[in-house]
Amino acid sequence: MKIGFLTSGGDCQGLNAALRGVAKTLFGAVPYVEIYGIQDGYAGLIESKWRKMEQHEFSGILREGGTILGTSRQPYKTIRDFDDSKNADRLTTMVRNYHKECFDALVILGGNGTHKTAHALSQYGINVVTLPKTIDNDLYGTDYSFGFNSAVAKAADVLDTLHSTAAAHGRIFVCELMGRKAGWVALYAGIAGGADVILLPEIPYSLDSVLEVINKRNQSGKNFSIIAIAEGAITKDMAEQPKSERRVGDISPGMELVRVLDEKLNQDVRLTIPGHFQRGGDPTPADRVFCSRLGAMAGELVLKRKFGYMVALQGSSIGAIPLGEVAGKLKTISLDNEVLKQARLLGISLGD
Ligand code: F6P
Repeated sequence: MKIGFLTSGGDCQGLNAALRGVAKTLFGAVPYVEIYGIQDGYAGLIESKWRKMEQHEFSGILREGGTILGTSRQPYKTIRDFDDSKNADRLTTMVRNYHKECFDALVILGGNGTHKTAHALSQYGINVVTLPKTIDNDLYGTDYSFGFNSAVAKAADVLDTLHSTAAAHGRIFVCELMGRKAGWVALYAGIAGGADVILLPEIPYSLDSVLEVINKRNQSGKNFSIIAIAEGAITKDMAEQPKSERRVGDISPGMELVRVLDEKLNQDVRLTIPGHFQRGGDPTPADRVFCSRLGAMAGELVLKRKFGYMVALQGSSIGAIPLGEVAGKLKTISLDNEVLKQARLLGISLGD
């Protein structure tokens, strides 16, 4: 068997652990397996950049951040762009290269955009098995994606650390967290890091409600507050505007919130944006276990020649879901989500 591995989209913790899991399962089961590492995601498949990998290259990478294969973003909307030098569009080039190299299957690790392309490849007859990667946890069809637990740990660490300096100065800290259109990282890190207010894209917030929390805390003798705001958060006013008119200029939601709080409060307000810190470094032990389990399942699917699936966490089990049910769907936090309810019971304001 000749299998191509590729990691695509933004990196996250656990990519190497997952690659190792698939490789161990395949090498352990069939002596004649050949694994090819495709460089920098779909870009490598388009440009025929791959190399045969030895078994030992998958050793010692369980806890390494990043990806040994490299990655890149290849937006789905560009895969039908025509490339004169190849006399074909990118999707056709990938299909052509797959057949030219006589791959038996591709193992693809990625998030939302990656899954749309993986599904398209699968519809063109390519044998594909995918693994759910994204710190944003917004991939449909799996309870969690890998990288999320590690990113939450990093973000919670930032919130934890802000507490002492916020308390020392009696300041308001706004911490802007990643997650694109989904608030999973902000919600979980906010709870883990003891945030007083958590602002999410799914629940447009009102400034008055945030000010009320700060004032109440000040009145009760707690002269500092920690606000976790998702990078996709919007105010109630914004939510009423058409999407195209919602954000002007380069001001991020965290910057904007600091700006308006500064105007309204007679108290120092500071902004912290951990940014890519949330995506870097070692995967947590929980993510290492998760990636290893997903990797084992992905390897098993390849061995059984069960293609066109994403391996996924379904309850407490690792299962598989058809790519057609995953591609193009976003998993945001539904308003009846239990964790939201519990956050409110804990006295955390969601700004609504
Ligand atoms: O999708 C993961 C993610 O880290 C998002 O949370 C964030 O908005 C985006 O990627 C950042 O992208 P880039 O690494 O291309 O700057």
